[in-house]
Amino acid sequence: MSLFNVYPLFDVTPVKAKDVYVYDDNNIEYLDLYGGHAVISIGHAHPQYVKAITNQVKQLGFYSNSIQNPIQLALANKLKQLSGCHDYNLFLCNSGAEANENALKLASFHTGKSRVLAFKNGFHGRTSAAVAATDNPNIIAPLNAQQNVDFVDLGDLETTEKILKKKEVCAVIIECIQGVGGLDESTTHFYQQLQLLCNTYNALLIVDEVQSGFGRTGDFFAYQKHNITPDIISIAKGMGNGFPIGGILIANHIQAKFGLLGTTFGGNHLACAASLAVLTVIENEQLLEHVRQMSNYFIEQAQSISQLKTVKGRGLMLGLEFDFPIQSLRQHLIYKHQIFTGSSKNPNLLRILPPLTVKKVHIDTFFNALKHELNDA
Ligand SMILES: Cc1ncc(COP(=O)(O)O)c(C=O)c1O
Repeated sequence: MSLFNVYPLFDVTPVKAKDVYVYDDNNIEYLDLYGGHAVISIGHAHPQYVKAITNQVKQLGFYSNSIQNPIQLALANKLKQLSGCHDYNLFLCNSGAEANENALKLASFHTGKSRVLAFKNGFHGRTSAAVAATDNPNIIAPLNAQQNVDFVDLGDLETTEKILKKKEVCAVIIECIQGVGGLDESTTHFYQQLQLLCNTYNALLIVDEVQSGFGRTGDFFAYQKHNITPDIISIAKGMGNGFPIGGILIANHIQAKFGLLGTTFGGNHLACAASLAVLTVIENEQLLEHVRQMSNYFIEQAQSISQLKTVKGRGLMLGLEFDFPIQSLRQHLIYKHQIFTGSSKNPNLLRILPPLTVKKVHIDTFFNALKHELNDA
């Protein structure tokens, strides 16, 4: 049987990995500044993570959500401690799209309304409502297009209010820093006013932290820089360091009811053990502070690249914008220099999403390769 051919693939076959390095089937070492699309948070095969998963699978890998599972509670408590999100409850699922799907569904249940307001260039996943709230017509099937979603320019409060005034909107969904869209972020004034508008017009504010959460920006959540209090926060990617897990943090004022949300695999023992290990390592290795330091260093080094237009993003969710398409540069970085980087909707933006454990020496390696490719040495 062939594989359903939906992914354009690089000709690299990773078979093992350690911290920021990935090794292919010929034992060639690659520097991973992409983190498998912002997924690797504490580094590949972190010993504490491997141990936690190994021990858990030996004990109990899975049982359904019909029994007591103390690891879910331990995860919720650790998440509360590290994120500072005290007035929330946790619902666990399996991916970023599923997190947003549940967030949107919950907003609709809670408000009794059905329209969604989303932002241009936003990405929220590929399931029903999540993909309908994603600004990319190519991935929205006619089935998904039945959802009622309005797309507004990031930062446009006037249009946002006009749409919210119609009173049919159950949720406003937003990435505080857009990932796939190309690392745009609006002002603190905008995010604060957006929250006020949501409160005024009884719409829930869903902040999608699937990519930007779990320390990637140097804050636990990217929205925290703007001093807002979302009604729902979606999480996934860095949460499991590669183990599939997602979830939503749900503000206390939103009532739970048996059967309102549910999943077979979400919150299973193994996934919770993986995520708990991730949080423990983030805490023990003080990775948030480390991310801030490495980010500053990266941005400093970027100043020496004369062809660079701007550095976008925060923490280790960064983009280097040039005034030419980066596609072939990215290929040269992989095939000639063995460095993984990322792309985005903006063809001129090279995305940098390394494991949060990346060190100065790795950043130096990257800039040397970049200068070599740009004849900027
Ligand atoms: C901001 C954001 N939300 C949601 C998703 C969807 O996550 P998943 O691919 O785990 O469904 C992504 C994936 O890239 C994302 O970047």
